[in-house]
Amino acid sequence: MLNFEFCSPTHFVFGKGTEAQAGKLVRQFGGNKILIHYGGASAERSGLLSRVRKSLEEEGLPFVELGGVKPNPRSGLVYEGIDLCRKEEVDFILAVGGGSVIDSAKAIAAGVFIEGDFWQYWETKTPVPKSLPVGTVLTIPAAGSESSHNTVITNEKTMVKRGTTGQCLRPKFSILNPELTFTLPAWQTASGASDIIAHVLERYFSNTEDVEVTDRLCEALLLTMVHETPRVIADPTCYEARANIMWAGALAHNNVVGVGREQDWATHALEHELSALRDVTHGAGLAVLFPAWMEKALPQKPKLFAKMALRIFGVEDQKDDEKTGALGIKAWRDFFTSIGMPSTLRELGMQEEDLPYMANRLMLKKDGTFGNFIKLTPADAEEIYRNCF
Ligand code: NZQ
Ligand code: ZN
Repeated sequence: MLNFEFCSPTHFVFGKGTEAQAGKLVRQFGGNKILIHYGGASAERSGLLSRVRKSLEEEGLPFVELGGVKPNPRSGLVYEGIDLCRKEEVDFILAVGGGSVIDSAKAIAAGVFIEGDFWQYWETKTPVPKSLPVGTVLTIPAAGSESSHNTVITNEKTMVKRGTTGQCLRPKFSILNPELTFTLPAWQTASGASDIIAHVLERYFSNTEDVEVTDRLCEALLLTMVHETPRVIADPTCYEARANIMWAGALAHNNVVGVGREQDWATHALEHELSALRDVTHGAGLAVLFPAWMEKALPQKPKLFAKMALRIFGVEDQKDDEKTGALGIKAWRDFFTSIGMPSTLRELGMQEEDLPYMANRLMLKKDGTFGNFIKLTPADAEEIYRNCF
């Protein structure tokens, strides 16, 4: 196991009706003037926003609002949010929505303290040093931004999608009420589940050996997702399944299942190019790309694939790691298809000419590669894209 430091200070408030505590929590974490940040129409339509406003009013907390965050959140609204926070002297941002809203809130929170263009930190993936405090009321379990120290934004001018980090970006609190996810369309539910699974797999595929504790934690989350996702697809108001998925989503990305080990993250890099270019839903892109990445990695490092196949899907042991691992990859592909995810980039609206273009836009390390479990070049990226086109 590698040396590590782990601090995940987010205060989670989980369960039915918990959004009523938003005002109290904002006060507890020092907010005096609030920006409520939200997305399109869903939070207004469900009545969630009025309940959140009421909860702030009950605490006597003044607030301003900025809605309109789009999936794959854009830089334009971040600039607007930064100006608004400075003008209104906002000292706390409350994000009401999914990963896109929370990421936009985090970018605004950091941007308030950045001289000049906030984008410089995202472009170069430089960690941000300081931000306003952010709290969240989560409406879709998926991105894990409610527990992570990450934020991912698309630059509207260049259509480049990049993420950065900062310990200050971990939400002060996150309200997780599984009932708020009953209204999710099946496509968003399944895309969110795929993203949660991908966050675990990016950590599971590691060259660090003998990290049984995090291997087993990863497997617990993967087994939960494989078991619970079909239940909510069949019955969107199944509270227990929604609850398990919501908590799995937060645990999948606060890094408790990733410490002490090298992590991969090649598939996320491959996916961000799809979302940047054709506005693809992040989790759906991952559902297509992950099996394709696995097929590329399998011949080089079959051992872990065989372990995954046996422990997650209970496949028949072929007494040959590569053959057993291949059954596991097939099981993942079948699983994603069974929950309504596509299996090709074409189904996501990608064009053949996009493939080399995206491969050449990937951010590379100094040695000209990306990914860690196996090192990939832009030529490998294009091959992976083609194999699932
Ligand atoms: O805008 P509204 O009307 O709210 O609709 C949203 C949106 O269209 C809808 N939705 C959300 N909650 C709902 C609902 N509809 C009905 N009922 C509800 N309860 O769902 C749609 C998708 O929302 P979005 O916030 O985009 O989803 P998600 O949470 O998947 O976030 C995706 C973004 O997060 C980034 C992705 O790249 C992508 O930009 N990620 C952020 C990470 C992080 N900060 O740690 C890590 C991830 O790997 C990921 O990259
Ligand atoms: Zn993700």
